[in-house]
Amino acid sequence: MTENFTTSQTGAPIPSDQHSLTTGPDGVTALHDRFLVEKLASFNRERVPERNPHAKGGGAFGRFVVTDDVSRFTKAAVFQPGAEVETLLRFSSVAGEQGSPDTWRDVRGFSLRFYTTEGNYDIVGNNTPVFFIRDAIKFPDFIHSQKRLGASGLRDADMQWDFWTLSPESAHQVTYVMGDRGLPRSWRHMNGYGSHTFSWMNEAGEKFWVQYHFKSRQGVEAMSSEEAEKLAGSDADYYRRDLFEAIERGENPVWDLFVQVMPYEEGKTYRFNPFDITKVWSHADYPLIKVGELTLDRNPENFFAEIEQAAFSPSNLVPGIGISPDKMLMGRVFAYPDAQRYRIGANYNQLPVNMPHAAEVRNYQHEGQMRYHFSSATTPVTAGNSVGGPAADQNRAGEVGWESDGELVRAAQTLRSEDGDFNQAGTLYREVFDDAARERFIETLVGQGSGITVPEVRERFFWYWGQVDAGLAARLRAGIAAGEKSDGAEAEPVGVGPAS
Ligand code: HEM
Repeated sequence: MTENFTTSQTGAPIPSDQHSLTTGPDGVTALHDRFLVEKLASFNRERVPERNPHAKGGGAFGRFVVTDDVSRFTKAAVFQPGAEVETLLRFSSVAGEQGSPDTWRDVRGFSLRFYTTEGNYDIVGNNTPVFFIRDAIKFPDFIHSQKRLGASGLRDADMQWDFWTLSPESAHQVTYVMGDRGLPRSWRHMNGYGSHTFSWMNEAGEKFWVQYHFKSRQGVEAMSSEEAEKLAGSDADYYRRDLFEAIERGENPVWDLFVQVMPYEEGKTYRFNPFDITKVWSHADYPLIKVGELTLDRNPENFFAEIEQAAFSPSNLVPGIGISPDKMLMGRVFAYPDAQRYRIGANYNQLPVNMPHAAEVRNYQHEGQMRYHFSSATTPVTAGNSVGGPAADQNRAGEVGWESDGELVRAAQTLRSEDGDFNQAGTLYREVFDDAARERFIETLVGQGSGITVPEVRERFFWYWGQVDAGLAARLRAGIAAGEKSDGAEAEPVGVGPAS
């Protein structure tokens, strides 16, 4: 008799993992082979829908330690002096599917969960401080443009550039992604940003607007297009492997968290809209203030249970931290839990990776598919009871709000003096990129522009980059014309390969 015997899902010993039940060694299979049926049925249900977007990723657990005193800006327990909390960080690509190569040019996701004593707090950001669009209603169209054509199922440069050039607010983020940030050396070698403006509130009820910056202690490094292209073919899981193996070796990556803090009232009059995710705030106006250190030191024990089923959301907030009047962020607060109820299931927050680790759950939500936790028989099922059940506490919730009173309209945000779509993209190109980075950026764009086959889209491509910088557009025109004269070289669209 085997001591370590295999069982069915209900614990009974199973007779074989090698042979199904048949009428004689060569006969038909019996439908009542419950062991075979259970095994095949379980297999058929192994996959859950992949995230749409950010399907391909990896992650690890760690610790966040507060090093500096920011209690004058927020009362959130996670950011008080001396606080130390467990964290989970998931990195990802945006456009590619589950099996896509890590080193396709793209923005990279940086999703961080703090398991705090006041509940889970998630910052679901990227490796860039800005984004492509500024209204949630455009998000499905943006993601469609990066994914695949309906008929052929192929990714398509014409579609990508048609969308981007018709959405001039994308210029700043597209400049980032066509630059070195689009091909990080590894997930360890990139910064993370909350990207949006968030709100903080201190114990006295004073409110502030904040932007999060996680600076990599490993340095911010990129890889060349050639290396990325090679790796896309030889090791599709390059970033995932790099992170896992670094942590196994004990080389635990570290990020320093800084915030930019804007006094609440200044948000109303700042020279550009500080809630516009296509913009960065000037560091001269709002210098970085250190908060703490994040270290990743523990690989998942099970990728599916702890990374695939992780459900990060900008709606996971804690007392003293809120959102802001950013039209993207308000949309995201709805979108993530909705996606996760579909992707994982109604009770996804009961899974070990998603439930709070340092706080308790107490409410009147119950039942539904796969409900695991339940209250004692004497616990009431209604909020509003006279037997001492949990009661909501507005003061304890520490919600952060803002004034809003206006007619319901569908309109672009009110423009301020420096609210242009192209200014900050031009600054990034001229003042932040060094000469070598600028040359790589131009080379990438020449490759991209050469891949556009629709004349109207290509003309708009030149217009778009001309708005960023007139000299840049001239370089692109000349570069693309020269390439076409010599060999007619065409680039792959972003994500189809690391376009040169
Ligand atoms: C209105 C705009 C947006 C919508 C509607 C949206 C929607 C989504 C959805 C539905 C998912 C999949 C969630 C899941 O299944 O678990 C997702 C993933 C993600 N999004 Fe967004 N998104 C938006 C904008 C952004 C922005 C601006 C950022 C970064 C600043 C961002 C970063 C991410 C990241 C990092 C993930 C992966 C989360 C993970 O690691 O599990 N998204 N997004």
